[in-house]
Amino acid sequence: MFVHLKRGWELPASAATPESAYLDRRTLVRTLAAGPLLAAGLALPRPGRTEDADPSAGLYPAARNERYALDRPVTDEPITSRYNNFYEFGSHKEIHERAQDLVIRPWTIAIDGLVEAPTTIDVDTLFREAGLEERLYRHRCVEAWSMAIPWTGFPLAKLVTVAKPLGSAKYVAFETFMDADVAPGQRQVWYPWPYTEVVTIAEATNELAFLVTGAYGKPMAKQFGAPIRLHLPWKYGFKSIKSIVRVSFVEERPKTFWETLVPEEYGFWANVNPAVDHPRWSQATERELATGERVPTLIFNGYGDFVAPLYAGLENEPLYM
Ligand code: MTE
Repeated sequence: MFVHLKRGWELPASAATPESAYLDRRTLVRTLAAGPLLAAGLALPRPGRTEDADPSAGLYPAARNERYALDRPVTDEPITSRYNNFYEFGSHKEIHERAQDLVIRPWTIAIDGLVEAPTTIDVDTLFREAGLEERLYRHRCVEAWSMAIPWTGFPLAKLVTVAKPLGSAKYVAFETFMDADVAPGQRQVWYPWPYTEVVTIAEATNELAFLVTGAYGKPMAKQFGAPIRLHLPWKYGFKSIKSIVRVSFVEERPKTFWETLVPEEYGFWANVNPAVDHPRWSQATERELATGERVPTLIFNGYGDFVAPLYAGLENEPLYM
């Protein structure tokens, strides 16, 4: 993201510290048992694993779901894994080495807010119970570059089902980890840490909304947002929050990280549209990371058949910023 920081800005509200990671096995078993995801043989993580031996490695490669086809080749891993936006590790693209400091096990996700029973889920159990699949998705950054990635993961809709939101819940809010000791970017107090993102329940349960756990047929590299990130391929990339530690169901729409920082440039909806320019540059074309060539940008990043109906009746909303 290109950000013009204005002088004399008020500092954002203090960053909330996420719940400390803990493993509540009984709650977890209850939650998953109640959901439709329970498979035979619930496997809880074994103590003493190191992150070198990724406990989810045995789940890869997952079978590819051919429903999600690409109109271009997959972008090679050496390109996509060395050109990342992960502001927690720096406000430039070369963060892959620094991101290796992130400790990704144990890792839990708190599920709270307007749900039947707030809980905390261990990611390895979640991955196993959800069942993983591979999808080839295009990714379009608001900065007008793009790539195509073979993600592995599971539909966000499955997590929504497990969470059992109350009828009053209208939005799903996501939060990234907060640990300035490993993520030096979080010491830059003018950013409204932790990184947050929000989608509507309808968007969260759209079949394209994907919780990503792996890339290129293996557990995803830390710079991609390990151990679990979101990918919403019809929206600008900043909506696809990395390294998620909390998922909250809420009635009122909270302001997101970028919306808080630069509301006139980065809005809530952020659906890709070549006809609606960013205030400081055109969105008509994008630079493919693989070739460096500029190609036309497509409405909803080419995923209109899947998502256009989500926005019927919302024409007065700023759907494309
Ligand atoms: N999530 C967190 N926590 N921090 C970030 O800085 N950057 C966003 C998004 N998710 C970001 C994030 C932006 S601007 C983009 S384009 C994508 O992650 C980049 O994902 P990639 O590095 O896998 O290409």
